[in-house]
Formats: sequence, structure tokens, C-alpha cells
Amino acid sequence: MSRVAYVNGRYIRHAEAGVSINDRAFLFADGVYEVIEVYGGRLIDEDGHLQRLARSARELRLELPVAETALRRILRELVARNLVGDGHVYLQVTRGAAKRDHIFPKAGTPSTLVAFAHRGDRAAAEARARAGIKVISLPDIRWKRPDIKSTSLLPNVLAKQQAREAGAYEAWLLDAEGFVTEGSSSNAWIVDGEGALVTHPADSAILSGITRARLLRIAAAKGVKWVERPFSLQEAFGAREAFISGATTIVLPVVDIDGRKIGSGAPGPVALDLRAAFHDFAPVTA
Ligand code: PDD
Repeated sequence: MSRVAYVNGRYIRHAEAGVSINDRAFLFADGVYEVIEVYGGRLIDEDGHLQRLARSARELRLELPVAETALRRILRELVARNLVGDGHVYLQVTRGAAKRDHIFPKAGTPSTLVAFAHRGDRAAAEARARAGIKVISLPDIRWKRPDIKSTSLLPNVLAKQQAREAGAYEAWLLDAEGFVTEGSSSNAWIVDGEGALVTHPADSAILSGITRARLLRIAAAKGVKWVERPFSLQEAFGAREAFISGATTIVLPVVDIDGRKIGSGAPGPVALDLRAAFHDFAPVTA
């Protein structure tokens, strides 16, 4: 079976799918995107992701080319056509194709909508969670609006690559004061000495993760205390536990930051509990 992607109203073979070289995402990274987890064939937290997509588009004055109901249909169609049990769907909206000019294209230029799906490996993800991950810290050199989920990800790409070359899975980004904002493609968390979850406030310095929001609700339901405040790298070194969250990782315990063991050096119980509770708790949409 060959993979199928969606491009501007058509379902086509993934390998042959493409957009114009004039597309503004190609020329200017002028686009927004979402990644939604598919678990047991269901889209996890679809509402939250679509709401955030609409917000990102609004912030960039970008028009979504189809209504939300059509978007939902396209995502389901991709899950079905690609036989995705566990995996992800990716969707991207760009400011369309037009002669290269920094100025927006003229009114009426259609936005580009691309979406595709890929299968994941549940066993491999669980094995990674059981082992825990290493993280390195790097300066956060991104623009001042990482709350917008734009396709302009060069600093994130460079940070993640540097992490990988250092034998780590993720990079934690530090602001000018030495506080951890978030990871290159995930939100950052610690468990403090009182057992409370600590994560950066969802202000303009981070992407307000949909997984993060779900975890805060799970914590509330479980009676786990949590606080949204910046934490420093120093505080993270001494934390009981640390972990990352995101649609592609759900919860992954962090066992090492910059070569220092975190907590016992093994995945912590709070992180593993949150991970185990995640899919049972998440309201899924059919
Ligand atoms: N990234 N912070 C950043 C910078 C991210 O890129 C992501 C997700 C998150 C977590 O957001 P959410 O829980 O809504 O997935 C936080 C996606 C998965 C990606 O770029 O692949």
C-alpha cells in the first residue's frame, strides 16, 4: 500500500506530492502547522490542535483555505487511507504561491494546505520512555513569538541537531536569565522538592503545548500540585524529576541534563504515572 497525502483539495501518492517552488513556505517559511497524535486510530486532542492552528494563522494574518469541518474530514481521510493505528497527522497552511516578494501576495491568492500521516511505533516509544532521555541546554535564540506554531524552525532544527550530535534526545532552551523556556520541539517540566510539577507559563516565550494543557488537567484530577513559573537550569539540576511533553513524545522522562544525573538517574514515578494516564484521560474525538 502506498502512502497518500493531501495537497490543495487532492489526495495523491505521498511520494509524488509537492507544491510550487514559489510557495511562500518554501521561500520564506511563511506558514503554520500542527502535529496531532493518532492513538488507536483516534486523533488525540484534535479540538485543541485545530484551535491553536486557527490562532497561529490569525496571528500571522494567514487565511485557512478550508473550514474547520473540512479540515477534520481531511485528517480522518488520511488516517483511514494510510491505515494509521498509532502515529501522527501533520498539517500545514502557507500563504500560498506567488512571485517572490516579501510583501503579502495580492488578495485572493489561495493559501496552500498540505497534510499527511505517518505511522508510529508504540513499542519503540514505550522503550524510550522506560530508558529516559538525555537533554543538553543551549541558548534560546528564537524570535520573540515562539507561541505561534510557525514553520520557521531553523533555531529549533539547529538545537535538536546539536543535541543529537552530543548524544542527547532534546535541547532545553535557556533565556537570557538562565531560565528554561522549553525544548526544541517539546515543553519542559521538572518535579520540585515538594513533588509539584513546574513548567514555564504559557506566555509568548513558549509554544502553549496541547499535551502540556492535558497534563495539567490530569495533574489536577490526580491531586498532583503544579505551578506555572520559570525554572532555572540550576533548579533543574537539583530537581527530583524532569521530563518533556509533546504530541510526538507525550511524556518522556529526562534522566540527564548536560551530563548531570537528574534525581535517581532513572525515569521518575511522577513522569511515568502521567504518561500511563495520558491516553485514558485524553478526551478523544471519533
Ligand atoms: N512540536 N514546544 C515546541 C517548540 C514544539 O515544537 C512542540 C511540539 C511543543 C509541544 O506542543 P504539543 O504538546 O502541542 O505537541 C512545545 C511538534 C510535535 C513538532 O514540531 O514536531
